[in-house]
Amino acid sequence: MLQFDLLKTDPSSHARRGTLTLNHGVVQTPIFMPVGTYGTVKGVMPRSLHEMGAQIILGNTFHLWMRPGLDIMKGFGGLHQFEKWDKPILTDSGGFQVWSLGEMRKITEEGVTFASPVNGDKLFMSPEVSMQIQTILNSDIVMQLDECTPYETKGHLTTEAEARKSMEMSRRWAVRSKDEFARLENPNALFGIVQGGMFENLRQESLEALVEMDFPGYAIGGVSVGEPKEQMLQIMAHTPHRLPAHKPRYLMGVGTPEDLVQGVADGVDMFDCVMPTRNARNGTVFTRFGDLKLRNARHKNDPQPLDTSCTCHACAGASGVSWDQGGRDGFSRAYMHHLDRCGEMLGPMLTTIHNLHYYLNLMREVRESLDAGQFSQFRAQFKSDRARGV
Ligand code: GUN
Ligand code: ZN
Repeated sequence: MLQFDLLKTDPSSHARRGTLTLNHGVVQTPIFMPVGTYGTVKGVMPRSLHEMGAQIILGNTFHLWMRPGLDIMKGFGGLHQFEKWDKPILTDSGGFQVWSLGEMRKITEEGVTFASPVNGDKLFMSPEVSMQIQTILNSDIVMQLDECTPYETKGHLTTEAEARKSMEMSRRWAVRSKDEFARLENPNALFGIVQGGMFENLRQESLEALVEMDFPGYAIGGVSVGEPKEQMLQIMAHTPHRLPAHKPRYLMGVGTPEDLVQGVADGVDMFDCVMPTRNARNGTVFTRFGDLKLRNARHKNDPQPLDTSCTCHACAGASGVSWDQGGRDGFSRAYMHHLDRCGEMLGPMLTTIHNLHYYLNLMREVRESLDAGQFSQFRAQFKSDRARGV
C-alpha cells in the first residue's frame, strides 16, 4: 500500500510538500533516506536514526541476497525484524549494484548473469528474481529491476542509440517487474525507474511509457553516473516535474546538500545518497557554513564543534543545545581530529551521526519553509550560509 498526499506546492518553483503513507508508517516529504546497504546504516544504531529524525532508510536487494541470504531473511519475516528498524524501508532492485560489478557480469534481455563476489557461484538476477527477493525482504517500497545506463564506458561516451537500447530494455523489465510483483501479491508499493541517459527525448519516452503503466511512484535513475554537473542539473530540470503530480518522485543516488535543495526546487520528493555516510568515514563533514575536512591540521586545537549551529549528539552532546546557543556539551573539532588521527571507531560514528543529522535537518528546514510559503527565501539563505565557509 501507498498513499501520497500533496499538502502544498511552491509558486516560485516545482517544489512540493507532501506525506507518503506506507505499510510501516508515514513519511514527510521532501525527504532524505539514509543508505543501509547491508541492513545497517554503517555505524549507527536504529535508536540514533530515530533520534535524528530518519523516517525511511534504504536496503539493497543484491547485497542482502548475497549475505545473509534468503533463508535467514525468510525466517525473520523480512528486513524490518532482522535489522530492528520498524519504520519504512525502500530497497533498491539490484540493477545498479550488479551493473557496478563491471567485468564480472553479463547482461542479456533475460537478466544478469554474474559470479557471486562472496564465493564465486554463478548467479542470475532477473526482474522476477528481484521481485521475489524484495517480497521476502518485505520492503515498503520496491524498485523495478532496471539497467542503469552508463555515462561512458572506458572513455567512450554512451551514444543515443546505445542509451535507447538500454532504456527500452529497462522499460520491458518494468513490465516484467510489475507482472511478477502482482503475481506475488506483494502488499507494498512498486516504483518504476525513468532511464534514457543524457538524452531528453529518451527520458521523455521512458517516463511516458512508465506513466502509462500506472506505478504508485516513480524514480529517476541513471544520474550521478560520472556525468558533468551541468548534465545532471539538466536532467533534474527536465524530468521530475513531467511526472504525475499526485505520485511521489524519487531521484536515485543524489547528492550534495546543494543538489538536494535544487532537486526539491525541480519537484523531487525523495533522495538517497551514500555521500553523508561515506564522506563521514573519510573525514569530510557537511555543515551549515560549508564543508569541513577533519584531517586538516587547522582543527587540531579548535574547541568548536563540527557545526556551531548543529544540535546533533556530536555537536551538542546530550543537552542538544548548539554552540551558537551557548551549549558546550558537544565534542570539539580538536577531539574529532584526534579520533581520526588515531583511527578510533568513535570518530566515524560521530561524523556519521553529524552528517546524517545535517542532511535530515536540512530537509526538515526545507519542509518547514514550504509549509510557511518561504521556500525561495530559504534557498537564498541556504546558499549564502553554505558559501560563508567554516
Ligand atoms: N541508484 C542510483 N542510480 C540508480 C539507477 O539508475 N538504478 C537503480 N536501480 N539504482 C540506482
Ligand atoms: Zn552535528
